[in-house]
Amino acid sequence: MRIGVLTSGGDCQGMNSVLYELALICEKQRIQLIGIQEGYKGLYDKKYTKIKADKLKTLAKQGGTILGSSRCQEMFTEEGQKRISENYHSLKLNGLIILGGDGSAKGAEILSEKYKIPSVVIPSTIDNDIKGVKLSLGFLSAVDRVKTVLSWIEDTAKSHNRIIVLEVMGRHSGNIAKQVAMENKILMAYTPEIDVTEKNLKIIDDKFNKKISNVILITELQKEKSEQLVQLLGKKYEVRYNVLGHCQRGGPPTKEEYKLAKSYARKALNNLMKGEYGIIKKI
Ligand code: F6P
Repeated sequence: MRIGVLTSGGDCQGMNSVLYELALICEKQRIQLIGIQEGYKGLYDKKYTKIKADKLKTLAKQGGTILGSSRCQEMFTEEGQKRISENYHSLKLNGLIILGGDGSAKGAEILSEKYKIPSVVIPSTIDNDIKGVKLSLGFLSAVDRVKTVLSWIEDTAKSHNRIIVLEVMGRHSGNIAKQVAMENKILMAYTPEIDVTEKNLKIIDDKFNKKISNVILITELQKEKSEQLVQLLGKKYEVRYNVLGHCQRGGPPTKEEYKLAKSYARKALNNLMKGEYGIIKKI
């Protein structure tokens, strides 16, 4: 038996851990594990490698993905899908395990429905924004990264009696900001559904005066809102705007994430064997 695995879309912590666990189980069960490189693009270009557990052992807790990842535009064209499907069949694979977010899951759906390619998707995105999925791989570690930086930023913001607005990732979802706000004392979290209002500016004033925090979180891709916020706060406070960026996707998985990665790997293989295809919604 031969199974293909690929990592697609934005990388996230825990991807290498999944690959290592898959390699271990596959070796025990005498399944050949083929790593497709750079996401669906590797299927399009027929770039792949055999995965061996001993080679992966030291990389299991490393961030990123040893297979490489991409957002493959060819997956959205009829010609591209056909070529991907033909290459998949020429590799004589019995199924695919795909690690990725929403876009990658849609790709898997097309391959499975139109081209009858058995595929299971491990939800993997720091945004944790896949419909019906409670906890995607990467989210816990991304939240951990933000919490670490937040505590450092609090130190410097307090020293200067400033407000620092910290922009975090999430694309169109405020899940990272919301989760960090639940676990930490901050002034406010401006997720896409929260506008800048007199009421929440007043809350910021109160918390700042009570020395509860000096930091505001804002989800990325809200240019107008962030400009408005900085302009209004600037009337009263010294304000700095920091963009946290891609460090949220890197670094080792947290302990919980590592466990989650192993569970996802086991579940993905089980589902593939049982013929339960599609995205894993519950773990
Ligand atoms: O989907 C994960 C994510 O990190 C989003 O939070 C962010 O908007 C996007 O990917 C960034 O994409 P790229 O790495 O292509 O700039």
